[in-house]
Amino acid sequence: MTEPDGRPLALVTGASRGIGRAVAWAMAPSHDLLLGGRDTAALEALATELPGSRPWPVDLTDSAAVAAAVGGIERLDVLVHSAGVGILGTVADTPAQTWRHQFEVNVVAVAELTRLLLPALRTARGRVVMLNSGAGLNARPGWASYAASKFALRAFADALRAEEAENGVRVTSVHPGRVDTEMQRAVVDQEGDVYRPEKYLRPESVAGAVLLAVTAPEDAALTDLVLRPAGS
Ligand SMILES: NC(=O)c1ccc[n+]([C@@H]2O[C@H](COP(=O)([O-])OP(=O)(O)OC[C@H]3O[C@@H](n4cnc5c(N)ncnc54)[C@H](OP(=O)(O)O)[C@@H]3O)[C@@H](O)[C@H]2O)c1
Repeated sequence: MTEPDGRPLALVTGASRGIGRAVAWAMAPSHDLLLGGRDTAALEALATELPGSRPWPVDLTDSAAVAAAVGGIERLDVLVHSAGVGILGTVADTPAQTWRHQFEVNVVAVAELTRLLLPALRTARGRVVMLNSGAGLNARPGWASYAASKFALRAFADALRAEEAENGVRVTSVHPGRVDTEMQRAVVDQEGDVYRPEKYLRPESVAGAVLLAVTAPEDAALTDLVLRPAGS
C-alpha cells in the first residue's frame, strides 16, 4: 500500500470510539491512517473528519478476515492496538466463555495482527503501541480475567520488544488508569458505582502518551508508560 503523499502510515485499532478514536485525532496531522473497528458507519464518519485516513473495518477475532484485510500493506510505520474488551467479575462468577472471549480480543487478536504485519513493520523500522491498563500491573478483586488478559498482553509486548529490537521495531505498553469512555461506563455499571467522568483521564490525555511513544527519537525506546488520573 503506497501512500501518495509520502507521509508515514499508521493503523489504529479500536478507532471507532474511545481511546483509539482520540489516538486517530492525535496522529492525523502527521500520519496517514487506517481506522480499525467493526462499526463501519462510525469509521466512515471519522474518515470524513480526518484527511489522509480511511476505514479499515474488520472483526479482529476473525483470523481469516484479518489476514485478508492486511493484504497490500507492505510498509507500516505505526501499529496502535487500542481495540479491547473490559468484562469484570469475580473468579467465582466468571465462566470459561468469558475468559476465552476476553483473551481472544485482548491478547490473541493483538498477537495475530502483529504477526501478520511484522514484515511491513520491519520494513519501516516501525513502532508498536499496546493499550494496556493499570490492571496489567495490579490485579484487584473482581478483575481476574481482564487483569490476566492485560498481564498476558504485557508479556507479549516484552517478548516482542526483545525479539524485534535488532530489526528496529520499537514496542511500548501504555498503562492508563480509568479513562472516560464507553468501556469505563460499562465497568462502573458492572461495579454498581456512580459514573464520575471528572475523576477519570480524558481519552485525549492517553492519546498524548501514545503520540509520545510514537514520536520518541531513534535513540530512545519508551518501553512502558503509566498514566493515572491526576486527582487519584
Ligand atoms: N477506558 C478505560 O478506562 C481504560 C483504561 C485502561 C485501559 N483501557 C484499554 O484501552 C483500550 C481502549 O479502551 P476504550 O475505553 O477506548 O474502549 P471502548 O470505548 O469500549 O472501545 C473499544 C474499541 O475496541 C473495538 N473492538 C472491540 N472488539 C473488537 C473486535 N472484535 N474487533 C475489532 N474491534 C473491536 C471497538 O470497535 P467496534 O465496536 O467498532 O468494533 C472500539 O473501537 C482497551 O484495550 C482497554 O482495555 C481502557
